[in-house]
Amino acid sequence: MMGLWMLLLLHLHLGNAPWIKVLCASLPAPSNVSISSFNMEHKLSFLPGPGTPSNTHFTVEILKQTHLRKSLWRSVTGCSELTAGQTCNLTRAFKYPFSQYRARVQAFTSIQRSNWTVSEQFQPLSDTVLGPPDVSVSGCGNCLLLQLRVPTTRGLQYHQQLRDLYRELVFHVQRTRDGAQFRLIVPYKEEIMITYLQPGVEYCVTFSVTALFNTNSVSSKPHCAFTSPPLHRSSLYVVFSLLGVFCALGFLLIGLIVYGSQLSFKLLRHLPRTLSKREHP
Ligand SMILES: *[C@@H]1O[C@H](CO)[C@@H](O)[C@H](O)[C@H]1NC(C)=O
Ligand SMILES: *[C@@H]1O[C@H](CO)[C@@H](O)[C@H](O)[C@H]1NC(C)=O
Ligand SMILES: *[C@@H]1O[C@H](CO)[C@@H](O)[C@H](O)[C@H]1NC(C)=O
Repeated sequence: MMGLWMLLLLHLHLGNAPWIKVLCASLPAPSNVSISSFNMEHKLSFLPGPGTPSNTHFTVEILKQTHLRKSLWRSVTGCSELTAGQTCNLTRAFKYPFSQYRARVQAFTSIQRSNWTVSEQFQPLSDTVLGPPDVSVSGCGNCLLLQLRVPTTRGLQYHQQLRDLYRELVFHVQRTRDGAQFRLIVPYKEEIMITYLQPGVEYCVTFSVTALFNTNSVSSKPHCAFTSPPLHRSSLYVVFSLLGVFCALGFLLIGLIVYGSQLSFKLLRHLPRTLSKREHP
């Protein structure tokens, strides 16, 4: 019993010795720890340090920087036992859009732990990249009607956050036929009408959103639509060929009538002669 206690004490003592610490930290620290963010969805990625054994796992912690209290590193749910190549979803962990955060990653095996590698500072609101909302475009005569939808794949909390960030919409409108174009900036609304366009013509619209405190927005792909149903060449052909057929039929009918009347006239002229021949055989 005494021997066991001695062993335990010895172990604890050695555990605090500096050379044990160095041994424990001999696992290479993760590299390229970075946070990327799109539409307020945040993700941490990292690479294992060179020479990391394949059975190594990784754990993630975050720090919310405050001026008031001493800030503490805290672990992130779902990111305490990652494998190489996995990413950590920080969307829930970074829940205050105006706060400054850092994240750090540590490699570990059953017997070793690496040093922590710390990310750059990250502020959700200003560092996220704002993608364009979903849109449907339709013609309304001499105008285009755009119906915008904030991406709805995320939970309601993030959906609402995103909607509140938007300030303005920047449109780039181009007429397909000749490339004539103009720019339009309007306050953010779910329904936008672009007016004074040419009817029956196709336009392509690309747009992006601007937000307060954020300058990282990306443009949408072009969305093209006709202002009103175009009079296609093919339908013109149909009209003209039908007209042609009717004309031809008309001429044929007139021809038949004329020919028919001539025939009956001839017959009438012949008839009395034959009759008279019969009378005087
Ligand atoms: C871990 O950090 C300590 C001090 O910060 C440093 O001396 C040591 O070399 C680091 N170990 C590794 C494996 O990077
Ligand atoms: C990791 O970071 C280093 C230096 O910071 C860089 O040269 C390298 O391209 C990065 N690797 C990847 C896969 O991003
Ligand atoms: C990250 O977490 C958020 C909030 O829980 C969720 O809406 C989103 O789909 C997650 N993203 C990924 C890539 O799993």
